[in-house]
Amino acid sequence: MRKYLVIGNPIKHSLSPLIHNYWMRKHQLTESIYEKEKVEKKNLESIVEKVRNDDLRGVNITVPFKKEIIPFLDRLDGIAKNTLSVNTLCKVKGEVWGYNTDVEGFTESLVDELIDYRNKDIFILGSGGVTPSIIHNLILTANKIYISNRTKKKAEQLQSRDLTGKIEVIDWGDNPKVCDFVINTTSVGLIKDENLGLDFKNYKNNKDVLFYDLIYSPEETNFLKDAKLRGNKTMNGKMMFLHQARIAFQMWTGVAVEIDDEIIKLLE
Ligand code: ATR
Repeated sequence: MRKYLVIGNPIKHSLSPLIHNYWMRKHQLTESIYEKEKVEKKNLESIVEKVRNDDLRGVNITVPFKKEIIPFLDRLDGIAKNTLSVNTLCKVKGEVWGYNTDVEGFTESLVDELIDYRNKDIFILGSGGVTPSIIHNLILTANKIYISNRTKKKAEQLQSRDLTGKIEVIDWGDNPKVCDFVINTTSVGLIKDENLGLDFKNYKNNKDVLFYDLIYSPEETNFLKDAKLRGNKTMNGKMMFLHQARIAFQMWTGVAVEIDDEIIKLLE
């Protein structure tokens, strides 16, 4: 049996097994199974060892271990190195490599919707573990990126790692001028009815502005509900989640899978 795993803490609500097992069955990979496991920091080294010994054929890493796994890996791909965030482990030439498929997952989700992300002013809320993955591709072609985080120091750390000079840090609660995209990378909204408490009333009736929340469960956070009511475009993190999984699946199995209506429905 080829065993795959997603690890995190908590992990109960992870939907990764649902989609990977769906693709495994659909493509007759009958000897493969994908499971989830709640782990502690002290277990990370032995998980990597299991990949090295082929006891695990592939691993996804989720919150809060995407950075903490790094010291145990033999090598990082360029994107993982740049974002200090690993969500996929894969054995390459006897070594355990860490990859980041969130970056491409995010930009692919924009491409799906035919959203042109070049030359935009972008307002990013949050500076947690996933935020560098959102910035990574956007910054190449962005006009300007504003970042605001409750703990300002973390936003400033992201700014200090940027070589393009396109990042400006905004105090939490303040707004820059109206931007083309506003992206919520914070965890606020994961719990039903939680509110960021930010004021976006100057974005009213602007259907060209995209409000993107990385959260997909609940499907519509208050951040998105309010944006819809104001007349802005909205997107949740479902397609990013599916794309990061698709890319990992292809890396492990060599099978290219499609994101079709059936898999999208599975997540509903
Ligand atoms: P991880 O790095 O594992 O993604 P995290 O560092 O806790 O998790 O990141 C969560 C993000 O949500 C952070 O930007 C966090 O802001 P702080 O850096 O100030 O903690 C943000 N966040 C969480 N709860 C918040 C709240 N109630 N209000 C505003 N931002 C919040």
